[in-house]
Amino acid sequence: MNAQPAEQLTPDDEQQVRTVRVALGQRSYDILIGPGLIAGAGRLVAERLAPRTCGIVTDANVAKHHLQPLEASLSAAGLECRSVVLPAGEATKCFAELQGLSEQLLAMGLERRDAVVALGGGVIGDLAGFAAAILRRGMRFVQVPTSLLAQVDSSVGGKTGINTPQGKNLVGAFHQPSLVLADAEALATLPPRELRTGYAEVAKYGLLGDATFFAWLEANRPAIFAGDGSARAEAIEVSCRMKAAIVARDETETGDRMLLNLGHTFGHALEAWAGYSDRLLHGEAVAIGMCLAFEMSEELGLAPGGTAARVASHLREAGLPTRVADVPGRGQDRPTVEELLALMAQDKKVSAGRMTFILAHGIGEAFITRDVEPARLAAFLDRRCREA
Ligand SMILES: NC(=O)c1ccc[n+]([C@@H]2O[C@H](COP(=O)([O-])OP(=O)(O)OC[C@H]3O[C@@H](n4cnc5c(N)ncnc54)[C@H](O)[C@@H]3O)[C@@H](O)[C@H]2O)c1
Ligand SMILES: [Zn+2]
Repeated sequence: MNAQPAEQLTPDDEQQVRTVRVALGQRSYDILIGPGLIAGAGRLVAERLAPRTCGIVTDANVAKHHLQPLEASLSAAGLECRSVVLPAGEATKCFAELQGLSEQLLAMGLERRDAVVALGGGVIGDLAGFAAAILRRGMRFVQVPTSLLAQVDSSVGGKTGINTPQGKNLVGAFHQPSLVLADAEALATLPPRELRTGYAEVAKYGLLGDATFFAWLEANRPAIFAGDGSARAEAIEVSCRMKAAIVARDETETGDRMLLNLGHTFGHALEAWAGYSDRLLHGEAVAIGMCLAFEMSEELGLAPGGTAARVASHLREAGLPTRVADVPGRGQDRPTVEELLALMAQDKKVSAGRMTFILAHGIGEAFITRDVEPARLAAFLDRRCREA
């Protein structure tokens, strides 16, 4: 028998909840990480935001497992709640869905003091967050991320938006949430491939700025993948702490925030080449991209020999691809250096014709540079594209 009212965290769970503060002046907010946060959302949202109504936005996959407990918790805390269930998948991050969602949220009678609650992965967080940014010129919103990627990356930092035929995330706004509830137990229902893609971003934090964390990941990766709640919460907390610190220094990505793009210049090009399809998911492309960034750092004499091999071996053990040749394909269906360079040149991180790269002096020592000779880059990538 559970004597606890439905909207409350159990005392056991409460003890395990970790808090990361995102310090952005008046727009500061807490990320709570731990078990039981979906079942305990009601009281947390009621106490911290006191909305009258919550408009929950989720997708069909997540709804199956997590919508009912969230609705029950919010209702038990005396909050009115209505839900919108959208199709799962990247295609949902589009103008047509934004329009439909906005109209549904307005039809619920949501007012400015009410809250939009994004329950799902990065697709739902980005779309619902953008709807919250534009509805009534800005509504409060709560992120309840359910994928590992969303828990360590997309729910933190306030970037929201949708895709257009011209490219990904080209329409959007910076709009910080008021609260993030990262329930590590929600990951139990996440498909394994999605867990691995999110893990690429976790490893990224160690690789870009925290060698101790990377060593911890090397030791604890098996526990994280086996579902150990405290190892998962620790990995999420350290990741969020690093992203929060970087975002607090550079909210709108004019400097330091670019470090978070480690592996992404190469990764985006590979992802685009594969047509943003199931063939290569974002985190998989980033895993290859991070390996390339470390290999290039080593080749340019910036990082000690052996660094890139250590990075690749960790990512490979996590079940991630690490080489251009790992992109699944048939026969000669591989990206060429020309294709990749053309795609990289379209990346929004190009300014004045020079590409911005995140390279590293070692594990945990990434830096931003525009000084990569185009000819050296081309020669390096050409070799990687030809590898069997
Ligand atoms: N805003 C940012 O700063 C930022 C940062 C990184 C990525 N993103 C965006 O995030 C998106 C990718 O996020 P994602 O990887 O979470 O994708 P996603 O939202 O599509 O989720 C991946 C899949 O897992 C399912 N899922 C999620 N949680 C689940 C759970 N607990 N149980 C069962 N199924 C679950 C989803 O339905 C989906 O099918 C991209 O659109 C990307 O542009 C945004
Ligand atoms: Zn990423």
